[in-house]
Amino acid sequence: MDIQFRPTIKDEALIKEAQRILNHNTWEGRYTVPSSKLYPYQWNWDSGFVAMGFAHFDIPRAIKELESLFEGQWENGMLPHIVFHSKKREGYFPGPSYWQSSKVPEASKLVETSGITQPPVHGFIMERLFNQYPNSKEVKAFIKAFYPKVLKLHKYYYEHRDPNKEGLAFIFHPWASGRDNSPLWDDLVKTIPIKPGDIPKYKRYDNLKADPSERPSDKDYDIYVYLMELGRRHNYDGNAIAKESPFVIQDTLFNAMLIRSNEALINLADELDLDAGPIEDWNEQSKKTFEEKLWVEELGMYTPYDLRNEKHIRMKEIGAFTALYADIPSSSRARKLRNYIEEMADREDGFRVMPSFDPDHWIFNPKKYWKGPVWPQMNWLLYQGLNRYGFHGTANRVKYDFLDLVNKLGFHEYYDPRRAVADQQTHGYGGADFSWTAAVVLDFIND
Ligand code: GLC
Repeated sequence: MDIQFRPTIKDEALIKEAQRILNHNTWEGRYTVPSSKLYPYQWNWDSGFVAMGFAHFDIPRAIKELESLFEGQWENGMLPHIVFHSKKREGYFPGPSYWQSSKVPEASKLVETSGITQPPVHGFIMERLFNQYPNSKEVKAFIKAFYPKVLKLHKYYYEHRDPNKEGLAFIFHPWASGRDNSPLWDDLVKTIPIKPGDIPKYKRYDNLKADPSERPSDKDYDIYVYLMELGRRHNYDGNAIAKESPFVIQDTLFNAMLIRSNEALINLADELDLDAGPIEDWNEQSKKTFEEKLWVEELGMYTPYDLRNEKHIRMKEIGAFTALYADIPSSSRARKLRNYIEEMADREDGFRVMPSFDPDHWIFNPKKYWKGPVWPQMNWLLYQGLNRYGFHGTANRVKYDFLDLVNKLGFHEYYDPRRAVADQQTHGYGGADFSWTAAVVLDFIND
């Protein structure tokens, strides 16, 4: 079935609404929350996309967004997944009193934070800002000051998250992948033996603020808490955690973002005469290892690698496709990835492109968070990657299919990928007035 393209999309109205959402979700004039009720703090990779959105209509806010996020950077370079600027807020778990970053010697002294990280998008967001405003003194001054912070973050990944010195960074918590309850993690977390007393009592709020059937299960949450506890015991130190944690993953999306952002650091060093340190060598190794180690021929795609159990996590899911944006795949592998997306868009049973998880797998759930729905920032990454390899037609299918969804169902956190179902709905899933959805819409329309 053909996807409805441009004619149904009212650009002006979408732009206005997207700008309103980003302004509305900006607190204290300095940082943007993903969605004011569900996620009342500043999130790591969300803010990267938010800065990209602001760059289309308010450069000072784009700059401030990245600066306020990096107030949370730790002295060892780690950039936490949540920065708790607004301390007095109640009703979020796990909040600052849970993570207790102030007890960690290396943590930020400016603001309390979580103890895990998220996909490193900031390098390429900074590069986009420069490419968009190459003559702006303000942007150049910002980049000169901000660049060393991003470099320090990347160094952290190579020095603290790569125990075998392969060039791939590991994560020790599903949340760090950005794809919290993806089926990717299901089998592995089932092997984690949680005994009574292993985890403290806690109270969830997410399932009170959003429909519980769209959120992760309580069992998932117990695992999240278990892995957080493990991290806290080690002051969230990567090398110590790698020795003990049952969850040590070299993720596709995470490493593709690292590689794409490395490339941005290398490009900016050339353009602005900055010092990229050892990034060029590291990046070469990262790209090579990614391509050689994470590809699974039977699936025709990349998968994360479980370092603890030394095996691939053999499932088809959205993270694989982000390798395109990092210029990792050979042209024949790139074509395989593109064909998968085209076949998805052409299926008789009708799917929006692109579901976050394999619709033919029994675990697929079109409503539940990362077990199937369409996610805005993932479509943006796919779009960039497809264009990078010259697959402009497929890229545009991804882009306009997504704009059509937002146009019909509003600026939600995620959407049902079943065409017939989404067509009957009046809104998307999860949080409403969502920041990165607004940012992606602004960038798509202005592209
Ligand atoms: C969820 C998503 C994560 C995102 C966060 C805030 O936890 O899985 O990727 O950063 O919400 O939007």
